[in-house]
Amino acid sequence: MEAQELREAFINHFKSKNHAQIRSASLIPENDPTVLFTTAGMHPLVPYLLGQKHPAGTRLCDFQKCVRTGDIDEVGDASHLTFFEMLGNWSLGDYFKRESIPWSLEFLTGFMGIRMDQLAVTAFAGDENAPRDEETASIWRSLGMKDDQIFFYGKEDNWWGPAGQTGPCGPDTEIFFDDGRPKCGPSCGPSCHCGKYTEIWNNVFMEYNKDADGKFTPLKQKNVDTGMGLERALRVINHVETVYDTPLFKPIIAKIEELSGKKYEDDVKAFRVIADHLRASTFLIADGVVPARMGGGYILRRLIRRASRYMSALGIEGVHMAEVSDVIIRDYSSAYPELSENAENIRTTITNEEQKFHSTLKKGLRKFDQMVAEQGDSKVLNGDKVFQLFDTFGFPIELTKELAEERGYQVDIDEFNNHFKQHQETSRADTNQVFKGGLADASVETTKLHTATHLLNAGLRKIVSADIRQKGSNITAERLRFDFNLDRKVTDEELAQLEKFVNDAIKADLPVVCEEMTLDEARAKGAIGVFDSKYGEKVKVYSIGDVSVEICGGPHVQHTGELQGFKIQKEQSAAAGVRRIKAVVGKFD
Ligand code: ALA
Repeated sequence: MEAQELREAFINHFKSKNHAQIRSASLIPENDPTVLFTTAGMHPLVPYLLGQKHPAGTRLCDFQKCVRTGDIDEVGDASHLTFFEMLGNWSLGDYFKRESIPWSLEFLTGFMGIRMDQLAVTAFAGDENAPRDEETASIWRSLGMKDDQIFFYGKEDNWWGPAGQTGPCGPDTEIFFDDGRPKCGPSCGPSCHCGKYTEIWNNVFMEYNKDADGKFTPLKQKNVDTGMGLERALRVINHVETVYDTPLFKPIIAKIEELSGKKYEDDVKAFRVIADHLRASTFLIADGVVPARMGGGYILRRLIRRASRYMSALGIEGVHMAEVSDVIIRDYSSAYPELSENAENIRTTITNEEQKFHSTLKKGLRKFDQMVAEQGDSKVLNGDKVFQLFDTFGFPIELTKELAEERGYQVDIDEFNNHFKQHQETSRADTNQVFKGGLADASVETTKLHTATHLLNAGLRKIVSADIRQKGSNITAERLRFDFNLDRKVTDEELAQLEKFVNDAIKADLPVVCEEMTLDEARAKGAIGVFDSKYGEKVKVYSIGDVSVEICGGPHVQHTGELQGFKIQKEQSAAAGVRRIKAVVGKFD
């Protein structure tokens, strides 16, 4: 069975229980500064689980793209994935255990065709924060689950959340597929890792909020948050051994076979790493992540570089990652149209990073060999030198670790981490600016520059390329700085045209109008800006004459004439595939 069939059946099942379908939110979480990426279906829904009213109602369902990067170097085995999809349904203070559990079971034994005796379930054993969940166990029994299929566990296994460091959480009941093999020992059960049990669905009874002090307080509403891993569910339905054997991965693996002339069975680890990492990278780039030395951009860089190394290990020469991405874009765009909408940017970003890595890899490998030669008897590579490889040659730590292990060495990770932390702290000031999206204060000058930024953005899309998207914006009282995707320099002639475009708009003294509307209305109006994860909320849309329509929080001037004039000071590269323009406003003769 194909993924799309499962997504649709899931959504239809919950629609038949009066749930509204919501869109998959961006992989970059909007409401949680404590994590880099969206890690679960509930993540974008945190404000609603805490009590805010959701415009689509109190029963929701969706499929949500997620990225978890805690175990990047485990990817390559049969089950770890960095990117995955989660099918989910939610009650926001509406139904609870008595409805949620039977509805899950109905889907599992109905559409998915799993027999009752192939299931095992768990419930919370109880502790000082919440009581033993006998209610859940008794609901399962009433539905025909036998006592020896019901297991009680403590917090480590049967408590979910919060997604970041704080937020809604609660006891859960996890549903496992039991493949029927004998138990590996007397204590074997769903929490055992012998492979007999695969978790497929998790129903969380979200009744608590964990605060920054680690305290749990009851939420004002009782919620249900469920999540079923799409890849694992497909594995079970298709009766295959690993997620990589499902129809989702088949075409990606076939492409890697074609590029390498090797078979998947020849080196399953390499095939899996490439397929997983490029799936994650493709989705991350579509959501606006750019390879960088810090934060989410650094994770993306690690994924691309690790995939690149495994491509070399398979004997793939030259630059071919974008060809694998193309397969992913083709297969996923009906469910996630942002992939085809950003296809060109995905290709360019991946190709640039791949090329960049190829050219530093050679030099870095020489340096690595020299380091090893200078090691003497110690089998532990010093973290200081490993950091140099990262800093100068862009070697992700996993790469150095794997190279070291291949030669019988280890890496002093703690020392590396110390260096890395220092490095992060020095770069943090910069990144904070980027995250803020620009406006440090709302003085008259910054307000003018903000409006100038919208005009510049519109001009770039008109004069340089319709595919241009904002990648970053930073405004001080002196100048604007605008980053955007483009794989080449902006020519002098284009810069002159851009200046003229903005100055013409200023001379025309166009009105700047702010309207509040829903995302759909904004889309219909042709607005650009961030569309993701604000589902249902009203957004502000700023229109400047008929030159620019952009979703934005403001503030802006009322008439473009207030800017007086516009001058570009500099055009430069900001990162691979990203250009930067600095410009000023004022009276220029
Ligand atoms: N939020 C729950 C999970 O991720 C459903 O498992």
